[in-house]
Amino acid sequence: MAKIIAFYNNKGGVAKTTTATNIAGVLSLENKKTLLIDGGGLNGKNNSFLQ
Ligand SMILES: Nc1ncnc2c1ncn2[C@@H]1O[C@H](COP(=O)(O)OP(=O)(O)O)[C@@H](O)[C@H]1O
Ligand SMILES: [Mg+2]
Repeated sequence: MAKIIAFYNNKGGVAKTTTATNIAGVLSLENKKTLLIDGGGLNGKNNSFLQ
């Protein structure tokens, strides 16, 4: 069953993207089908498919 993990904070620069990217990377390395969606601003990673 799919799980959704959210890192949410209105404030910028608090490591939302960094944390989400690393968690998604680790899950992908563990052969879990992973979709990373970062709805943040200019530096956001949008709809990255891992594994
Ligand atoms: N644990 C950390 N230690 C030092 N710098 C960090 C850490 N986590 C994130 N950063 C830095 O903080 C900045 C903002 O991180 P980012 O993940 O882009 O924040 P957000 O997505 O919340 O705006 C980036 O330059 C990132 O490299
Ligand atoms: Mg971000």
